[in-house]
Amino acid sequence: MDRRIYKVRRIDPVERTDECGVLEGGNGSWRFIPGADAGGGKRLLMIPGLRDVHVHFRDPGNTGAETRQTGALAAVAGGFTCVTTMPNTTPAGDSEEWLREQIEDESLPCRIMPSACITKGRLGREVAKLELLASAGAAAFTDDGAYVANEDAMREAMVRAARLGKVVLQHGVEPVALAGGVMRDCRIARQHGFAIMHPEAETLAIERDIRLCRETGCALHVQHISTAQGVELVRSAQKEGLPVTAEATPHHILLCADDIPCDDANWKMAPPLGTAEDRRAIRDGILDGTIGLFATDHAPHTAEAKEGGFRKAANGIIGLETALAATYQAMVLEEGMALVEWVRCWTVNPARLLGVPLPSAMEDFVLVDESANIVAGTDTFKSKSRNQPYSGMRFAAWPVLTVHGGKAVYER
Ligand code: DOR
Ligand code: ZN
Repeated sequence: MDRRIYKVRRIDPVERTDECGVLEGGNGSWRFIPGADAGGGKRLLMIPGLRDVHVHFRDPGNTGAETRQTGALAAVAGGFTCVTTMPNTTPAGDSEEWLREQIEDESLPCRIMPSACITKGRLGREVAKLELLASAGAAAFTDDGAYVANEDAMREAMVRAARLGKVVLQHGVEPVALAGGVMRDCRIARQHGFAIMHPEAETLAIERDIRLCRETGCALHVQHISTAQGVELVRSAQKEGLPVTAEATPHHILLCADDIPCDDANWKMAPPLGTAEDRRAIRDGILDGTIGLFATDHAPHTAEAKEGGFRKAANGIIGLETALAATYQAMVLEEGMALVEWVRCWTVNPARLLGVPLPSAMEDFVLVDESANIVAGTDTFKSKSRNQPYSGMRFAAWPVLTVHGGKAVYER
């Protein structure tokens, strides 16, 4: 029999409780005994399985970079038990068949609640069949990877999404203002003469979408917010009472453009890393609740796609396996964020964004070693891709056991 006993500190982010005790079980049946003592050994943090509303599994179309299987293995290795896949695959996720393939894959160790396209083919012109897609299980709508620049299409999509009670997730990078920029103004950009991404590329997009949110009443979610100005726009929209939310990625929270060591595309993503002031504003936005969610934007790419430095390489970094560590480092250790609030940003708030309840606490959880003291390196990664900037960085916290549907789906 596979029976285990752990000494744990259990945080329930719904009830906001925090208690020590013993977790025992295995094979689909677990129980927590508050106050009990399991003797020696490390006390592990017990929290619900994390939820990521923004991942790219390259399935279908680019399975050399990631498959649903390898993506899901990376997810559970990172402590995630539910992820929302983005529809920028080939073909794009604008059909019931595409959704069925994502949802009905029984072989996966975690759950997928996919998003679907806002526009047909993600081409930014004609609105997709949102009603059909919603009934086929689309958790939200997005053209992620591309901003829906056509205002009429976006307005129509928001009117229809609002009727369906669905949120639209917007990739807020306005392409004209982006003007081919590959990074924000920083040392490396000046050294290499790279085209700069100005913060207006984000603020123009967010401003327009907030206006459409006011007009249509549709819930708007700003993906991977990266600028101080963007955070301020979201804050004032929320003060106005508009249904606007935002997510921040582990990399925009932990890192900034001045950390980029050289022309290494492992640091290239869209939107790019911001200035130290942007990072400060993002952390402040998390601390005051303006930004309620963390999301990885896990974006695997083959080694070939990441060749050629910032001028040529594809945008995006993988993030599922370092997300817990990076956000714990930045927010709990460096900012002193209350542990329960940090947990809510990975659990309660992403679930609420999609309008779903959290699964049962004894069937879906992760145990975290808060003094694991691990140096990140790609050799242990389950993701098929290796594109990320964290190698060599030391992290205190790391997931050690992930349970989904009562079963141990990952153990370190
Ligand atoms: O860096 C990024 N990569 N940002 C996105 O929004 C898309 C993603 C991708 O699909 O590679
Ligand atoms: Zn993305």
